[in-house]
Amino acid sequence: MRIEHKATSFKGTISLPGDKSISHRSLLHSFMSESDSLVGNLPFSKDVDSTAEALWDLGAPVVGNSQHEYWVMSFGCQESRSKNLVNCHNSATTMRLLMGILAGCESESILTGDESLLKRPMERVAEPLRMMGAEISTNNGYPPVVIKGRTPLKPIRYKLPIPSAQLKSSLIYAAMLANGDSVIIEPVLSRDHTEIALETLCPGNYHRKTSKGVIRHFIEGEMYFPFFKINIPGDPSSAAFLAALALLTPDSEITFKGILLNPRRIRYLEILKMMGGDIEIAESGKELGERVGDVTIRSSELKNIEIQTEDIPLIIDEIPILTVIATKSQGEFIIHGAEELRVKESDRIASMVWNLRLLGCEVEEYQDGLRIQGKSQLHAGSINHKGDHRILMSLIVLSMVHDLDLEFDDLSPLTISFPEFLDFINLLSK
Ligand code: S3P
Repeated sequence: MRIEHKATSFKGTISLPGDKSISHRSLLHSFMSESDSLVGNLPFSKDVDSTAEALWDLGAPVVGNSQHEYWVMSFGCQESRSKNLVNCHNSATTMRLLMGILAGCESESILTGDESLLKRPMERVAEPLRMMGAEISTNNGYPPVVIKGRTPLKPIRYKLPIPSAQLKSSLIYAAMLANGDSVIIEPVLSRDHTEIALETLCPGNYHRKTSKGVIRHFIEGEMYFPFFKINIPGDPSSAAFLAALALLTPDSEITFKGILLNPRRIRYLEILKMMGGDIEIAESGKELGERVGDVTIRSSELKNIEIQTEDIPLIIDEIPILTVIATKSQGEFIIHGAEELRVKESDRIASMVWNLRLLGCEVEEYQDGLRIQGKSQLHAGSINHKGDHRILMSLIVLSMVHDLDLEFDDLSPLTISFPEFLDFINLLSK
């Protein structure tokens, strides 16, 4: 199908569905809690549904009320069923975070997923969990993952070999189910929602110390979350696609209300500001320790830059849309150190390089990144989003800002993270 794009500008003030990373964690924290918890502004996305469905399968129902709030039943993983089959569908976050929890449960679980998830590496999580005493087998490093948990786990001292928030969170959950104190060492920063939840809800049982840029996480064993209530702030990673439309279309201005302003998630906004973006960020308060506020984005003339390697984990989900922005900006856009992009829902370096080249953009591919020559004149072609939600949204934005008549054969990947994407575009189109 073709996406209608008659809009001459994008204007309006919107509130977005809740942040995906915090949603997964809120559901899991309730599962690991002593009492049921209340979660508001949970997005209707398939990835978050995968975590909710997994909790149902583990015996902890997630039940909605008329105010679109969800009671998440605590079940306490110690009591979960003896044998579980959990389908995580497209969501690696569901699988990797659950592995840490199920490693400390007296049960056997088989975690599987869709065609894309069956190609995502799981040994990075399995290996340290085995050191803690869990029995885990993978299919040559990939799902299905079979976990025989151990209660309690042994504590661990572990230096993260890759900057992955999923790996870090999984190990923090396992450490909470160990019979002693663990230390996790983080040499390169990644998103920190699990840590913020622990600092807010379990002060005294968890703390982190930074020295010379390295963070040490100290986690007490045999620890549970208490009751909590959260209204999930708007998802800044979903906002990035609409922000690109505002920046690259003349006479546009979009304001996002109540959006998550965690600095490790809005690094892309700081980068766009460095590129010349007219962006205002106004913090208004905190929601369960997370910074929240409003962001306004206006049409701008942008200049490409070289991205700093230490920023990569902080913009990992925004890189595809940043490459689209680069095609309309002046000069060269260069990324190195982003090999993790090759093991996302698709190989996102290859996916963007293939599509941009096909449409006439000058792109150089590196093993760990790419170089894009800005201000490219693009033409139509037979694009392929590889079933990847963020590649699909990036290509939709690309077609609009370059006024290309592209054919999108399957829009279903939008449901993975942002089912309302096209509705918001319609709402903002002027
Ligand atoms: C996520 C962490 C990131 C990100 C993913 C969500 C999380 O993955 O790409 O969309 O919620 O922890 P990695 O930490 O594996 O890079």
